[in-house]
Amino acid sequence: MPRKVDGWTLSGSSEDRQPEFKKNLKDYVYVQKKFIPETVCKQSIKEIEDISFQEHKFYDSETKTYKTRAASHELHMSWDNISTTQVIMENLHNAISNYQSYVNLPWFKNWNGYSPIRINKYEEKREMAMHCDHIRDMFDGERKGIPIVTILGILNDNYKGGNFILFDDYDINLKEGDVLIFPSLFMYPHKVKPVTEGIRYSFVSWVW
Ligand SMILES: [Fe+2]
Repeated sequence: MPRKVDGWTLSGSSEDRQPEFKKNLKDYVYVQKKFIPETVCKQSIKEIEDISFQEHKFYDSETKTYKTRAASHELHMSWDNISTTQVIMENLHNAISNYQSYVNLPWFKNWNGYSPIRINKYEEKREMAMHCDHIRDMFDGERKGIPIVTILGILNDNYKGGNFILFDDYDINLKEGDVLIFPSLFMYPHKVKPVTEGIRYSFVSWVW
């Protein structure tokens, strides 16, 4: 039985199909279009205005401190709950199951659960510097393990700039309600380009 942490568990892929052995990096990048209902996205944005945000910082293992990388232009983030958190988490459960079925890894079913969502807010000129998601500090306490895949959800698209870029130039066109899943590995560096107009809202969770 998977351990229950935060009430969100995964049982691993339920299928035993022959693996297809995807060998291209992009094969493991999976977008589910309009997966979060529009009403949920709109309601989330309404409530996001009232929650508390802090500037995002990356953990630096050399100095054991948290630092911004994009000068003073890093995005803001929040771990606060809103009324749609529960329904988003339920949607993510299905999104993860779809991804498991798509990548089809019968030799790797040890997916324990997924973290609560973190909400990201990019005001004008805010961005996220190039990085990979080898996050350690979230998975060395109650949740013990490694981040396996990153789940990114987009809550609006009425802004300009803010493109999500994987590798050096793989521009993934994400719209309201889309959910993107990719491995949380050094092989998947990514960044968000500066927002040039409006505010970009997204959320992120990690399967571990
Ligand atoms: Fe990331």
